[in-house]
Amino acid sequence: MFVLLNDEFVNRNECLIDIEDRANQFGDGVYEVIRVYDGEFFLLHDHLKRLIYSLEEAKINYDIHHHNLADQLQKLVEMNNFKDGGIYLQISRGASPRSHPFPKHTQPTLIAYPIPVTRPLESQEKGIEAILHEDLRWLRCDIKSLNLLGNVMAKQSALDAGAKEAILYRDYNHVTEGSSTNVFIVKDGVVKTHPANHYILNGITRLYLFYLAELLNIPIVEEVYSIEELKNADEVFISSTTSEVISVIKIDDVQINNGKPGPIAQKFLQAFFKHKN
Ligand code: PDD
Repeated sequence: MFVLLNDEFVNRNECLIDIEDRANQFGDGVYEVIRVYDGEFFLLHDHLKRLIYSLEEAKINYDIHHHNLADQLQKLVEMNNFKDGGIYLQISRGASPRSHPFPKHTQPTLIAYPIPVTRPLESQEKGIEAILHEDLRWLRCDIKSLNLLGNVMAKQSALDAGAKEAILYRDYNHVTEGSSTNVFIVKDGVVKTHPANHYILNGITRLYLFYLAELLNIPIVEEVYSIEELKNADEVFISSTTSEVISVIKIDDVQINNGKPGPIAQKFLQAFFKHKN
């Protein structure tokens, strides 16, 4: 497997990263997961736009245009003869003796490489179960940061409970997002999802669903909703690069839509590949 390491393509076993890279000690970096279908990137430029946002907000000085990142990623896919899956990409603040302040003369470290991702067809067909979990993360969830301990712990709690996703809440009146997905509820034909602010990651799939909603004439609003509304929704579904769209059919012990995927999620899913932009 070839890995893009800064501006070079190297074999995985030759990809040397310093033990004092700040990604290791501080999670001091940002990342993206970009989907590749049939050898082609899906929504690449939206991911790169968000990457620029994360870099700027984290004050990591890396100019993706200067490094021709889009072309390099294309080359990475070709060199690996990669057809279906994801490209994982992370940029850390670089390697420097461990100390909290930003190092002065350190170059960021970029790594990008293919990861296996398969379409979750069974989950899409049957729906998944989720648990509710307190959102214990920091307050800059809009930055796609490497610090994922809060997400990882919530996801594991879901798995331990026999479910597939943890739906996070700050308090009873404030559901935010999933541990690795955005969450949507439907009531009386209107789709509702958390506003894009510092409490959630503004998912690229989430944004794509807004675009599809307009094409499909499905009303969609960005509003905070409560656990009560979530549990009483006609439909609940999640979105992400790797999940695409998946219905949630049970949350803790409450069934949603009689335990079946709902029609609006199905509409989004059917439209998902028809309208690639
Ligand atoms: N997760 N919210 C969180 C907390 C996420 O980690 C993700 C993505 C999303 C959905 O974003 P997008 O539609 O851009 O994938 C929302 C990625 C896939 C991951 O960490 O594996």
